[in-house]
Amino acid sequence: MEFTDVLARRRMVRRFDPRRPLELPQVDRLLAAAARAPSAGNSQPWHFVVLSGPDETARLWDVTLPPQRRDGFAWPGLLDAPLLVLPVADPDLTLGRYAESDKAGSGLGADPDAWAVPYWLTDTAFATMLLLAAAVDEGLGACFFGLFRHEREVMAALGVPERCRPLGVVAIGHPLEDRPGRSADRGRRPFDEVVHRGGW
Ligand SMILES: Cc1cc2nc3c(=O)[nH]c(=O)nc-3n(C[C@H](O)[C@H](O)[C@H](O)COP(=O)(O)O)c2cc1C
Repeated sequence: MEFTDVLARRRMVRRFDPRRPLELPQVDRLLAAAARAPSAGNSQPWHFVVLSGPDETARLWDVTLPPQRRDGFAWPGLLDAPLLVLPVADPDLTLGRYAESDKAGSGLGADPDAWAVPYWLTDTAFATMLLLAAAVDEGLGACFFGLFRHEREVMAALGVPERCRPLGVVAIGHPLEDRPGRSADRGRRPFDEVVHRGGW
């Protein structure tokens, strides 16, 4: 698919076909695309926790949306996604890279709080965006959603190490028609408001 078409088609999809699982090679293509993201010092500080099929995806949903709270959930079709990927940022990989000799001058290799911008989050967000784009390129749909107050509980349920930070969840599958998200009709902000040429 042309890049311009990927951009034009990408939107968050919140309803998936439960009868169409994804094959492992396709899942691996998506993850390989995500792992092509740029990263600070080429540190590649991401992990992807991959939940495939209803038994594995239930491990997340049972924490974030237990069965007794599902009635009235606005996006029930989201629970039918055959694949959930949690992009997880690992600060140790960035810090370790910036402790190496060619980066030691930055003084950023020891203390995560010294970073004005925590690049492990930046890099993992870049990888997440590639994952969303790759899903479109494969003719699939995807939706990123946050973990909010369930972050710690999800980390424990999935065995994510304490030092790491899951950015959220990407649900992926074959899209079914859905209604747009609550925020969709906000439209895009005017170009002139967003772009500051020659300075702010
Ligand atoms: C950081 C981030 C968090 C988001 N969290 C949620 C979420 O928790 N639930 C949800 O349905 N959509 C979520 N979205 C999707 C946004 O609502 C969506 O991207 C936005 O409305 C623009 O619509 P579009 O992506 O379909 O173009 C999130 C998107 C981002 C980038």
